Amino acid sequence: MLYCSSFDCQKCPRLSEFRSQNKQKFTSYHNGPVESFGDLSAAILIVGLAPGLHGANQTNRPFTNDYAGDILYPALKKFGFARGNYGKVKNDGFELINVRVTNSVRCVPPQNKVTADEIKACRPYLQAEIAAMPNLKIILSLGSVSHGAVLQALGYKKSAFKFAHGAEHKLFNHNIILIDSYHTSRYNINTNVLTAEMFDKIISRLTELL
Ligand code: URA
Repeated sequence: MLYCSSFDCQKCPRLSEFRSQNKQKFTSYHNGPVESFGDLSAAILIVGLAPGLHGANQTNRPFTNDYAGDILYPALKKFGFARGNYGKVKNDGFELINVRVTNSVRCVPPQNKVTADEIKACRPYLQAEIAAMPNLKIILSLGSVSHGAVLQALGYKKSAFKFAHGAEHKLFNHNIILIDSYHTSRYNINTNVLTAEMFDKIISRLTELL
């Protein structure tokens, strides 16, 4: 796990306590920091929030077996950024093309909510990940937490760029464009904050920017 925290990372007391509880309850689950998905040679990095309890925390692949992945992965495939069948398990043979997917925080948090301290503790892994992507041109942040985590990982103030769905930010100290989207969460989809059409537009825009 080159760019991920050690399997038994203890940096976040709340998250390691939750992990211990989950190890008892869900014995077949991964229950550890979740690895990123896709090649480091990709030009696009998609950054989510944190693993879902029965999603990435179970499968050890971001957004996999998670409602948010049911929106994300078919959209990537539709625009040529993935191939194969998304089968909701790590060994489904589904492959990303020129895209890598990671999370702002790599361990599952209680109630899907992360704290500022947890984002800070996990920051070195996001920084290492970004530094290890030589062809990186675009970061797509899913949700405002990811937007802030990415900016801080790259040394910007969160207030330097305002989060807005569809906003494109040229990061002046880097050769990177940060694009914002509402998160593909079940809540956002059910409340129509984000529709499949809105998300398709974001993914289609990636093809133009490459
Ligand atoms: N699953 C993830 O891996 N990340 C998210 O942000 C949501 C679900």
